[in-house]
Amino acid sequence: MRKPIIAGNWKMHKTMEEAVDFAEKVKGLVPSNAQVDTVICAPFLFLDRLVKEVSGYNVKIGAQTMHYEEKGAYTGEVSPAALKGIAVSYVIIGHSERREFYNETDESVNKKVLSAFRNGLLPIVCVGESLEQWENGETNEHVGSQVKKALQGLTKEQVKDLIIAYEPIWAIGTGKSSTAEDANKVCEHIRQVIENSFSKEAADSVRIQYGGSVKPENIRTFLSQPNIDGALVGGASLDPDSFLKLLEASI
Ligand code: G3P
Repeated sequence: MRKPIIAGNWKMHKTMEEAVDFAEKVKGLVPSNAQVDTVICAPFLFLDRLVKEVSGYNVKIGAQTMHYEEKGAYTGEVSPAALKGIAVSYVIIGHSERREFYNETDESVNKKVLSAFRNGLLPIVCVGESLEQWENGETNEHVGSQVKKALQGLTKEQVKDLIIAYEPIWAIGTGKSSTAEDANKVCEHIRQVIENSFSKEAADSVRIQYGGSVKPENIRTFLSQPNIDGALVGGASLDPDSFLKLLEASI
């Protein structure tokens, strides 16, 4: 009953030429909107061009971060209003690489999530534990706390619309993925946290992606789990054929 959502996170890859080439190859071949939501989260510089390239096709464009203020003296930053102004639909918030390298905190993640809704953008909120937390059995506690803090102040209706991406940090770009069963248990816990904080309806409606070394070869095992509704994919989203295979496997 929850529509799958597959999002590519290109991170700091590709040139404009490569980005446009990707869009041209992929856009006519994606499954229909009734089957899957398709998102490409690209570097800021390519967003405007990509939105135009995929207009009319079942592909939405997302940013990889943003500032929470609508405008101001924040050199080098990009505002939610600027993203909305060029018809960007989604924004990744709180990716572990932003938390690790750019001082993103639970507090700034929450501000950005609230700001995304104020500005008509749909957030893909990333949560996930470190290897140490995983080994110490602290995953549910850590991820649950990240979810609670990120969603503070949202309405139940907003929670139903957003996307959560569960990405164990130790599985990102390492070739090691969580087992589908383990990832499903964490996603089940996330739903429980949302039910406790918001409502059963919000918990049943919110879509949760798994991320971390997802590939065309393993995506089905994750998507066959009852609490996993899609994937946030880094490396395997960069090649057009690989991205199309991920989409085909999701329907
Ligand atoms: O946001 C996606 C991500 O961090 C996972 O990257 O390369 O392991 O699919 P990758």
